[in-house]
Amino acid sequence: MGYPFTSALVTGASSGIGEVMADLLGRAGVPTVVVARRGDRLAEIADRHDGFEVLAADLTTPEGQQVVAERIASVDRPIDLVVNNAGFGTSGTFHELDVDRLDREVQLNIAALTRLSHAALATMVPRGRGWLLNVSSIAGFQAAPKLAVYAATKAYVTSFTESLHEEVSGTGVKVSVLCPGLTRTEFQQVSSTDHYADTFPDFVWTTVDDVANAGLDGVSKGRTVVVPGVLYKGVVAASGITPRGLARRISGLVQRG
Ligand SMILES: NC(=O)c1ccc[n+]([C@@H]2O[C@H](COP(=O)([O-])OP(=O)(O)OC[C@H]3O[C@@H](n4cnc5c(N)ncnc54)[C@H](OP(=O)(O)O)[C@@H]3O)[C@@H](O)[C@H]2O)c1
Repeated sequence: MGYPFTSALVTGASSGIGEVMADLLGRAGVPTVVVARRGDRLAEIADRHDGFEVLAADLTTPEGQQVVAERIASVDRPIDLVVNNAGFGTSGTFHELDVDRLDREVQLNIAALTRLSHAALATMVPRGRGWLLNVSSIAGFQAAPKLAVYAATKAYVTSFTESLHEEVSGTGVKVSVLCPGLTRTEFQQVSSTDHYADTFPDFVWTTVDDVANAGLDGVSKGRTVVVPGVLYKGVVAASGITPRGLARRISGLVQRG
């Protein structure tokens, strides 16, 4: 498809949803800055497309956040679309988990995303043009026992991005939040949810292609909240009318690992 943006920066572009978004942008002729820690994987993706730029950075560190924020704010090489996609989860009982890992999860899912959203909008709003897509999760719509920190970080991302969408309305800048359901990527292995995720039936899985397409299409059209797949649209609609206690218990049964 043709996109309205003429340049892009995607975090977490070395695998999964971010990699597919980078490929979609590349195939549409949009020069893209690909960001993640694994520079070798980014270089392979950049080799597939014209005008791609590799920016290897650890977004859990202040230095990594700073270098990516500076690239987003560049006046000489402007970025039209910023996708804050990098993120990870940690499955398990909260008080038994490694607290340093949970700190890094909060740094990546919340602090880096906030910092890079600021860099994006502070540059785009005065320019009167730009697109910001933040990747959240359907896990952000209700509590998730055994994925407590992850669900809370994604609740932040959804609320924060919805607010920004309204704040910049009328400036020429579009802000959207993408809330995928279960999607097979490296996420399941990284978050240690693979042992029970593998038991879920096929119909609960959304394809990574559908998720990436829905995100880029949604932000192009200026949608506020983008939920890929009919099943998850229904889940989100139901979460608005289901009592919180019931939603919490159902969610706890799903993360039964
Ligand atoms: N898969 C799902 O079921 C699902 C569902 C809902 C929402 N999501 C969200 O979708 C987004 C993408 O996840 P995915 O499913 O595509 O998982 P993935 O395949 O594990 O991709 C995660 C990406 O984030 C990057 N990343 C991780 N730590 C980083 C760090 N410290 N600094 C910079 N980059 C870092 C990884 O690259 P490096 O390791 O090379 O740094 C990788 O490119 C995440 O925000 C996730 O929460 C996923």
